[in-house]
Amino acid sequence: MTDWLKEIDKAQDLEILESIRIGALGKKGEITQAFAALKEADEAQKPLIAKSLNELKNSFALAFSAKKESLEMVALSQALQAERIDVSRFAPRNEIGALHPVMHVMDEIIDFFMQRNFTIETGPMVEDDFHNFEALNLPKHHPARDMQDTFYFGDGRLLRTHTSPVQIRTMLGKKPPIRMIAPGSVFRRDFDITHTPMFHQVEGLIVDGKDKVSFAHLKHILEAFLTHMFGDVAVRFRPSFFPFTEPSAEVDISCHFCKGEGCRVCKHTGWLEVLGCGMVDGNVFEAVGYEDVSGYAFGLGVERFAMLLYGIGDLRSLFEGDVRLLEQLV
Ligand code: DAH
Repeated sequence: MTDWLKEIDKAQDLEILESIRIGALGKKGEITQAFAALKEADEAQKPLIAKSLNELKNSFALAFSAKKESLEMVALSQALQAERIDVSRFAPRNEIGALHPVMHVMDEIIDFFMQRNFTIETGPMVEDDFHNFEALNLPKHHPARDMQDTFYFGDGRLLRTHTSPVQIRTMLGKKPPIRMIAPGSVFRRDFDITHTPMFHQVEGLIVDGKDKVSFAHLKHILEAFLTHMFGDVAVRFRPSFFPFTEPSAEVDISCHFCKGEGCRVCKHTGWLEVLGCGMVDGNVFEAVGYEDVSGYAFGLGVERFAMLLYGIGDLRSLFEGDVRLLEQLV
């Protein structure tokens, strides 16, 4: 008879252990066969043989279940080891993209004017002298050209310094009445904490029949617009100069950080300059061949709005693409 207890002891995994059980106690197993052979045994010997077979069967069962339990423990700990999860491991996150704060402000501005039936007009970023300057009442050698440091290509073309040329293109392509805004990128040779070589503007233009558009209309829409953007602020119009408007004004809002008391952002004046505007100059209408019309125009810098809305001190930080900053905005 095989030394079954020794076999069990040697078994290294559950599969081998099971084959040992079959070898001993299966239908044709050695112990099973020994029990079957009992019938042929000598009557006198039978009880003795039966007793030792039963003892063998019992000790087999005990050894088998103890071994099985210990092999199962080994298998379990091997599986746990193999599937171990290291919770301290670095896991890259899938970041969800979002609109850049400047584009968010741009959309807010566009929405305001779209809801009031302004059309959205666009024009090329590479412009010519006529559309960017000449037709806007900025003839060659006019000192006001110095207000805008221009990138020239050397062949007469230039990068538009403002979105005002879209006024000209729209008026040349359409008859009045006109009620438009022109959002877009503009370019100037400037780089400091409040200037970047590329930034965004939104231009506005309304043209209708003679005497139909007044400065009161301009004040009304801009006051509604600025309180929509900045909340409960006071709006003031200061006389100013732009070649393409007459009269011209610069528009200030009361500082929404200090409520007009004076702080770092408003340089202790209580006011923040936010845009330029005026009644369209007769020379501009002449340049596009419009007669007997009246109109107003305005222009604003989107980054300036974003800086004031989000309280950002250095404009350049909006262009550095640092997610840690951008995530805090919008
Ligand atoms: N084009 C001006 C600039 O870039 C902004 C501006 C001022 C536009 C007054 C206008 C306006 O249409 O009426 O500084």
